[in-house]
Amino acid sequence: MIKFPNDFLWGAAASAPQTEGHSSRNGKSATTWDKWFELAPEKFNDNQGPENTSNTYEMFVEDVVNMRKIGMNSYRTSISWARLLPDGQNLNDEAVNFYRTYFQTMIDNGIEPIINLFHFDMPWWLMEKGGWENRESVDDFAYYAQVAFEQFGDLVHRWTTFNEPTVHIECGYLYGYHYPAVVDLRRAIQVGYHTLMAHVMAVQKFHQVNVDGQIGIILNVLPAYSRSDDAKDLGAKAISDLLSSRSFLDPVVLGHVPNELVKLLKRNELLPEINDNDKQLIIDNTVDFVGINYYQPRRVQAPKNPNFPAKMPSDWFESYDWPDKRVNPYRGWEIYPPALYDIAIMMRDEYGNIPWYVSENGMGVADEERFIDDTGMINDQYRIDFMKEHLEQLHRGIEAGSNCFGYHMWTFVDCWSWLNGYRNRYGFYRLDLNNNYKRTVKKSGLWFQQITQNNGF
Ligand code: BG6
Repeated sequence: MIKFPNDFLWGAAASAPQTEGHSSRNGKSATTWDKWFELAPEKFNDNQGPENTSNTYEMFVEDVVNMRKIGMNSYRTSISWARLLPDGQNLNDEAVNFYRTYFQTMIDNGIEPIINLFHFDMPWWLMEKGGWENRESVDDFAYYAQVAFEQFGDLVHRWTTFNEPTVHIECGYLYGYHYPAVVDLRRAIQVGYHTLMAHVMAVQKFHQVNVDGQIGIILNVLPAYSRSDDAKDLGAKAISDLLSSRSFLDPVVLGHVPNELVKLLKRNELLPEINDNDKQLIIDNTVDFVGINYYQPRRVQAPKNPNFPAKMPSDWFESYDWPDKRVNPYRGWEIYPPALYDIAIMMRDEYGNIPWYVSENGMGVADEERFIDDTGMINDQYRIDFMKEHLEQLHRGIEAGSNCFGYHMWTFVDCWSWLNGYRNRYGFYRLDLNNNYKRTVKKSGLWFQQITQNNGF
């Protein structure tokens, strides 16, 4: 029997834009997702946009009851900035009421709400003035954070600022998956830097508002494994880790941007514009805990024909096909549970053993309906096996002294996912879009219930 520490958090993660629905209603203003869907619906899988998602705005009580049924003791979701402050300044009372009732319902059912502030959902009014490229976005975000802490700080005791900041940077400014779909490494770096400063200023507000709780951030870590021990391949691994993990982990936990990153950007004439007192602000506003999203590792080698100065990250490292690669056949992502152990050890040894938790881990499956069994339930044994293997590795890491306090799966109810719409299903509960958003527990949900009951398996 594998037992986890007392008070371990067991739960799931989601986000406001992917679950709430009512995206153009109840006082919410548009985000880049609403606008993009209006402008180019064909980009979205099956033309499914953000208006409906899983309708949590109306169904949150049922959701919370379902969370309790599978024994969850915590749930991470986000607040929608464009719902709380539709024009960036004035409070939407209906939103305050919605979130307060939602969070209170969780608390009444023994579920701790862990609340995140930004999950890829840039308000349109801010995008119109340049989004994260504009330094003003830092103050705008800090103001939003302050309002959220003031309005909900009595109910929420664990807060996070951003979910996977490297994703909105890369997807919006390098790879075309998020609006504004620009391809420009220099702009991507400036966006990244302003995101970091927005995080830092939100942490400062957290302390000023004096919230009774803890503040963190959620980072997607892609541990890199090099093709060989050749110095060039090892160099590629080091740069991949710098960009994908250390670019945020180092400043938010240790209080400084890695020197190697500064040198790399300088050499490539890519340093962002910074303000004089930023350095001190970063030192003064480190986090209390970190959430790590782990899905897959990255296999890297030195690039064959790099540009100098670099135009894209592929000028610094290339992916290669690892011969022993085990793949999730339904999503194409590598499955490599030992990386979770490596992450645990990295957090222990390189980040002062700061408290952390697995804030997302999960297995996306396309056309999951094909796994419905005779009883009408989705028999997602593959997801159970996936969780089990990852939890075993996490447990090894905890036994080795890593300070991990919880495990959240992505996700609770199948949800809408950006350009992918409803293609990839991840939930403990199946969402039936043809039947009034009906939720039905999957086999993995029942398995999770046993884990939560026994605090292990
Ligand atoms: C996570 C994101 O990285 O991946 C989620 O935080 C997203 O927002 C999830 O939905 C799954 O992504 P996809 O592309 O498989 O639907």
